Amino acid sequence: MSRNVETDREALVAAARAVRDNAHAPYSRFKVGAAVLDERGRIHAGANVENAAYPQGWCAETSALAALVAAGGKRVLAVAVCAVAEAPVTPCGGCRQKLREFAADDCPVWAADLGGLRATHTLGELLPCSFGPHHLAP
Ligand code: THU
Repeated sequence: MSRNVETDREALVAAARAVRDNAHAPYSRFKVGAAVLDERGRIHAGANVENAAYPQGWCAETSALAALVAAGGKRVLAVAVCAVAEAPVTPCGGCRQKLREFAADDCPVWAADLGGLRATHTLGELLPCSFGPHHLAP
């Protein structure tokens, strides 16, 4: 039976919120936390990591995906992002593509702030007609 990821939403949003505190964002001061749910129900979290050589920084979603891969995770079933901004913060274009490597079009992407959930999308909505691993399949 496939997992009902809705039951993991609160835990995923909480993980994204908690890891956001550890963001290394001294240049933009825009702290972001992200959490991804893997196929075994495990949560992997990551924060943005900026660099004095500005282009060398990377996003919270990228950190969360690296944690998933390091732990042996293979699939992303749901994503939560936590940041503080006027509009709900969704993954940047590059991170949408990185998520696409591990997630299907119907994967929920939950955008939260410190008060909780603000917006829900699917990855397919955020990255329609995407290029993905299936294009390279023989
Ligand atoms: N950032 C993320 O970590 N994730 C997003 O979804 C949007 C942007 C980071 C990159 C940079 O460190 C800071 O936010 C400002 O762009």
